[in-house]
Amino acid sequence: MKYTLAFDVYGTLINTSAVFDSLEQMIGDQAKDFMETWRNKQLEYSFRRGLMNKYTDFSVCTKEALEYCCKLLKVDLNKAQKESLMMEYTVLPAFDDVEIGLRNLKGLGHKLFAFSNGSEKAITKLLKHAKIIELFDGIVSVEKVTVFKPSPVVYEYFNTKTNSKKTNSWLISSNPFDVIGGLSYGLRSAWLQRSKDTIFDPWGIEPTAIINKLTDLPLTLDSNK
Ligand code: LAC
Repeated sequence: MKYTLAFDVYGTLINTSAVFDSLEQMIGDQAKDFMETWRNKQLEYSFRRGLMNKYTDFSVCTKEALEYCCKLLKVDLNKAQKESLMMEYTVLPAFDDVEIGLRNLKGLGHKLFAFSNGSEKAITKLLKHAKIIELFDGIVSVEKVTVFKPSPVVYEYFNTKTNSKKTNSWLISSNPFDVIGGLSYGLRSAWLQRSKDTIFDPWGIEPTAIINKLTDLPLTLDSNK
């Protein structure tokens, strides 16, 4: 069976932790705390904006979360440093297993889509920079429905936009909130557990499959027909 695959981008294909080195140079020991809080706040801001019907470009959530971290951790980054971090976020690298993993899946005849909170423009830039854009059949951004994951509207939009159905598509994400969102809408959803320290939310909802690298996905798709 050939599937339509929805790949989450930030944290799944693209490594958001790559800002660590720059942060370490700027703020030393606080880099890890800063990086984790930055990512968590960015997502929290997207959730809150979704609930409030106050959609904005995802990069605004990223920028506002950056400002929050500076205040919380009493870190005095100057304008140039903040701009440099924001710029780095637009050219983050892909994880090592991504190119080969996507190539295998494409070779097997599946349709591959990048599916993200990020704008189409931002995702195009990231995937081009990571030299993987040609492996995709398209990009599905939440910007057209002006709400963020995990609203069911977003997952339904994925099926509509890619002319697929719940029964012939999969979500692949490293973000447990995204996997639960996909499952709750009715998509089969694989959790790509990128670190053994990541916890899957104990909501009594289990991923359709758990993988540790993208190259394990073909087998998973085969055994979950
Ligand atoms: C995305 C975020 C949720 O790419 O990682 O949609």
